[in-house]
Amino acid sequence: MAKFFGNLHLVLLAGLALAIVVIATAGSADGRVPDPNQIFRWLHVFFGITWIGLLYYFNFVQIPTMPKVPADLKPGVTKYIAPKALFFFRWAALATVVTGLIVAHLSGYLVQALTFEPPFTLIAIGMWLALIMAFNVWVFIWPAQKIALGLVDATPEAKAAAATRAMVFSRTNTLLSIAMLYAMVAFNGG
Ligand code: HEM
Repeated sequence: MAKFFGNLHLVLLAGLALAIVVIATAGSADGRVPDPNQIFRWLHVFFGITWIGLLYYFNFVQIPTMPKVPADLKPGVTKYIAPKALFFFRWAALATVVTGLIVAHLSGYLVQALTFEPPFTLIAIGMWLALIMAFNVWVFIWPAQKIALGLVDATPEAKAAAATRAMVFSRTNTLLSIAMLYAMVAFNGG
């Protein structure tokens, strides 16, 4: 038992197998085989919670706790935990964008939503907030974190400035995420 649960890949495979059983037997509310739209919604939410879950880990746990971590223990976070978290964070952000755009396309309103046509205002707001957030991840947070964590060469001053820059954009995304989540879930869920 401990051997099985100690192997993350096996556990994820078992989770996927369970999901496939659920999809195959009761995959849609009306009892029919689920269509690609439903599959992509599922993947979209999977990647979305991975991304935003890690955003909240950084903002609720890591950033507030780092000042209290003794200096000799800080490398445990900056050299081991943060790079791994940032790997899943940035790729989950990209996968969320791609699957979200696919869902909008399969739902038949991609262009209408991106151009704020009236019936699509709510999902348009959600999509644009999330697109801005993903832009922040790839254009500001990740490049700043590479400097702040010492993954690229930089002076101590440049590292400190980069850490502040990463924090400001990370906090900006936390701010935007709350309204973004409402738009995502409320557009079709009411
Ligand atoms: C640029 C990024 C994103 C795009 C383009 C996007 C796009 C979409 C679209 C088009 C829908 C379907 C709305 C509908 O017709 O019901 C949707 C639903 C949803 N999105 Fe996103 N989204 C993005 C980011 C996120 C993020 C970061 C999350 C965080 C968890 C998220 C969570 C959800 C949820 C929970 C739903 C509802 C799924 C459902 O009820 O079927 N999205 N998104």
